[in-house]
Amino acid sequence: MAHHAIAVMVSGRGTNLAAILEAAKNGECPVDVRVVISNKIDAPALRIARDAGVSSVFFVNPKDYKDRIAYDKACADIIEKADCQWVVLAGYMRILSSFFVNYFFNRIVNIHPALLPAFTGVDGVSDALAYGVKVAGCTVHLVSEEVDGGAILSQAVVPVLNDDSLESLHQRIQKEEYKLYPQTLHRMIEQGFSMDGRRIIWR
Ligand code: GAR
Repeated sequence: MAHHAIAVMVSGRGTNLAAILEAAKNGECPVDVRVVISNKIDAPALRIARDAGVSSVFFVNPKDYKDRIAYDKACADIIEKADCQWVVLAGYMRILSSFFVNYFFNRIVNIHPALLPAFTGVDGVSDALAYGVKVAGCTVHLVSEEVDGGAILSQAVVPVLNDDSLESLHQRIQKEEYKLYPQTLHRMIEQGFSMDGRRIIWR
């Protein structure tokens, strides 16, 4: 199976990026991480990308652009020039413009630390914990214009324990993320899917 070039967009620690890079290196995920873009200059993810030898690693400063569309156009330009087939959001904490979502229509994926459609937004884990759910988890989904609202590609479930804190629950969810994200990318590339309304039908 030929490797698919992907761009990964990050804002923070980059542990999901590290899991994808590791899976690619081990032959478990047929992707070539060709570009990494961060909107935060101090994101540890940038170092992870550089240390792994990703050829194009960029901090794109939101302050250099007049609005969200101009920023997203600059990112789209980088991704296009590198000929990436997929845009993979891995802890990218910036809302994408409809320009960007439509430009890469059904080619942007995201991982969210909750079982969507419950607990959308930036505080998915703490919202789930405060609500009192007994199972939490993570979701890999296509990105649509609605935040955390695109079609669901895969989900993994983790139990919520009596003594869970935000940190312990997030840690357990992240352990699942590190398996689920590379597996889902693998499946997208090897199997492919069709769509029936919101439903992803794996081939
Ligand atoms: C991950 O847990 C991811 O699910 C979450 O941010 C974390 C990033 O960690 N994403 C969101 O909350 C998106 N709404 P990482 O930078 O170590 O991969």
